[in-house]
Amino acid sequence: MASFSSLKILFNINIICLLVMVAFSMGGVSAQLSTGHYTYSCPKVFEAVESVVQSAVAKERRMGASLLRLHFHDCFVQGCDGSILLDDTSSFTGEKTAIPNNNSVRGFNVIDDIKSKVESVCPGVVSCADILAIAARDSVVQLGGPNWDVKVGRKDSLTASLSAANSGVIPPPTSTVSNLVNRFQARGLSAKDMVVLSGAHTIGQARCTSFRNRIYNETNIDPSFSRTRQSNCPSRNGVGDNNLAPLDLKTPTTFDNNYYKHLLVKKGLLHSDQILYNGGSTDSLVETYSKNPKAFSDDFVAAMIRMGDISPLTGSNGQIRKNCRRVN
Ligand code: HEM
Ligand SMILES: *[C@@H]1O[C@H](CO)[C@@H](O)[C@H](O)[C@H]1NC(C)=O
Ligand SMILES: *[C@@H]1O[C@H](CO)[C@@H](O)[C@H](O)[C@H]1NC(C)=O
Repeated sequence: MASFSSLKILFNINIICLLVMVAFSMGGVSAQLSTGHYTYSCPKVFEAVESVVQSAVAKERRMGASLLRLHFHDCFVQGCDGSILLDDTSSFTGEKTAIPNNNSVRGFNVIDDIKSKVESVCPGVVSCADILAIAARDSVVQLGGPNWDVKVGRKDSLTASLSAANSGVIPPPTSTVSNLVNRFQARGLSAKDMVVLSGAHTIGQARCTSFRNRIYNETNIDPSFSRTRQSNCPSRNGVGDNNLAPLDLKTPTTFDNNYYKHLLVKKGLLHSDQILYNGGSTDSLVETYSKNPKAFSDDFVAAMIRMGDISPLTGSNGQIRKNCRRVN
């Protein structure tokens, strides 16, 4: 009799645990992101996102870089809430034409393809903000970088902010080190996070307009490197502004630590890259990451998880957009 009633208690405890777990996975109770948020509601979300990222990156390696950057630009404006994905309408201008984004951010069609695939396996469950976070991780992995478990459970915003996107919260490439540090600190990220996340510039491309002043006017640059870059980036403003050059001159489609090695020899493409190794407080971290790929990978992963945690909408805030380009 005694053993029967203790079995019954155990059974009841199990039921309660299950209910609590279901409530958590629905986001009804927790205001925290977790890796298990879709365990019950959309167990196939990760394979769905991965398959689309994989084919997009196989088609064009640079797309991996573009998807990683989208998550960064999303998170630094209003938090990681999918705000960057909203299209302009007749009554509203979103973030896509903001200075750091206009003619620069890309990958929106791939995000649409991922969203369609995810909607086909579990309609109305997975947010666009989470899709950005998962696609960023999958992109890094596809290009040979480290893997990690992505925390999910973000909701999508009902608004975007052109003015915030233009206010400098996404720092410009003309920044000083202290401006970079301040902008990251304003998002709860450390100077070390800033240096290691800048290592994302081991992949992808920049436009001439983003590095013109550096290659013509700066002195902390290798002369043969600046000549090479000048050959496809005319000095005159407005001429060849969109001509591209790789952020990592040798391996721009491989996620490795070469970005830091190039800084040591004054071959950083952006002003904001080279100032991380220019006789200041961040030099020693650049040296560490240039010598130690494991330290770079480990610290990059930890910083990506912190970046993904910036002010998410959770619980009953925000919505799950049906189409990432507009609110429901
Ligand atoms: C530290 C401050 C940062 C500055 C000043 C900065 C600035 C820039 C600029 C100017 C470009 C080239 C844009 C263009 O010319 O079209 C660029 C590209 C890129 N950025 Fe950053 N960035 C920073 C941090 C980050 C972070 C934290 C990430 C991601 C974790 C990131 C990922 C990328 C990637 C992957 C590209 C290449 C995108 C592509 O090829 O489509 N950046 N960044
Ligand atoms: C964005 O770029 C387009 C050129 O593609 C330009 O016509 C437009 O004026 C730019 N918008 C802003 C706000 O700078
Ligand atoms: C170089 O600096 C001068 C003085 O600030 C500026 O007027 C000029 O536009 C710069 N050149 C380039 C190619 O950016």
